[in-house]
Amino acid sequence: MPNRDSETLILAVETSCDETAAAVLRGEREVLSDVVASQVGLHAEYGGVVPEIACRAHVETVLPVVDRALCDAGVASADLTAIAVTQGPGLVGALLVGLTFAKSLAWAHGLPLVPVNHLEAHLSAAFLEGEVPTPFVGLVVSGGHTALYHSAARGEYRLLGQTLDDAAGEAFDKVAKLLGLGYPGGVVIDRLAREGDPGRFRFPRPMLASPNLDFSFSGLKTAVRDHWERYGSEDVRDVCASFQEAAVDTLVEKTARAARETGAGCVVACGGVACNTRLREKLSARAASLGVELRIPRPRYCTDNAAMVAAAGRHRFLLGIRASLDLNAVPTWPLEQMTEAA
Ligand code: KG4
Ligand code: ZN
Repeated sequence: MPNRDSETLILAVETSCDETAAAVLRGEREVLSDVVASQVGLHAEYGGVVPEIACRAHVETVLPVVDRALCDAGVASADLTAIAVTQGPGLVGALLVGLTFAKSLAWAHGLPLVPVNHLEAHLSAAFLEGEVPTPFVGLVVSGGHTALYHSAARGEYRLLGQTLDDAAGEAFDKVAKLLGLGYPGGVVIDRLAREGDPGRFRFPRPMLASPNLDFSFSGLKTAVRDHWERYGSEDVRDVCASFQEAAVDTLVEKTARAARETGAGCVVACGGVACNTRLREKLSARAASLGVELRIPRPRYCTDNAAMVAAAGRHRFLLGIRASLDLNAVPTWPLEQMTEAA
């Protein structure tokens, strides 16, 4: 079995939320295949992810998605070095589909099984694109999570701060819903905001005055809702731009503060909201003014995918981390406790 660094062939399976994904990674960053089957169309009419629908769709899709990933990569299951799978955090039923599939494949081919934390996978996406200097400050900003970590070395994480209520992506989605822009809304707000005036309305920058590194987005969402209910006829593009500016300012300011306070020379931003063009723009400007390096994966690697799971899984495989076939899903798995849960 090849397991020297340059020869590893990792198949990764990701089913933590509403994307069924599989990827094959050769060595550290050669992504041979990267297949994502999105369920967005199934959940859109409900305005959010419906767990039962997500599980059923994963059951139907996981086999063709993995088949396609192996086929695109030109790799047979027997050639693999290991199988990495998202163990948590996420929707327990959805996680169980990927986990059960990965366990079966690992058992059938006598392959090692490597459990992966979804949040570490998001951060690991940055390692697919090149070297990431440590220590770094990691901003994980997605539909389910908004948190800042300090990573002194790859695989080590200390929580610096996190949202006390809604995740940033959740705020984008809820604001889009109340503005009648559909689901998921982050990408629509991003697009409309480009044509709007970010200074037209002054929405609150929550938690900026407090000295900690926590976030809060539900008050911002409420402020937009109150504004919209009162002045509903206002130009929606200006509302999108002004809301986005408030959310982005908060994320950038806290991330910059984290970098300053920890003295880290690099910032990594990842997760679906890291696709946001304004966030990418403002983080780049701030990182340059602070003199720190910035790593934001390409948008495809920011939203849920399995290439990032393969990157994290490969690192853990090389550390000797293996799971037995009684591995269970972990719906809540704080990144800083990942070694204990494995
Ligand atoms: O990482 P991800 O695909 O799934 C989770 O792990 O949650 O993130 C999805 C979130 C959604 O809330 C979506 O609205 C948001 O990322 N998102 C964006 C953008 N693209 C996706 N938010 C703001 N601007 C975007 N361009
Ligand atoms: Zn995610």
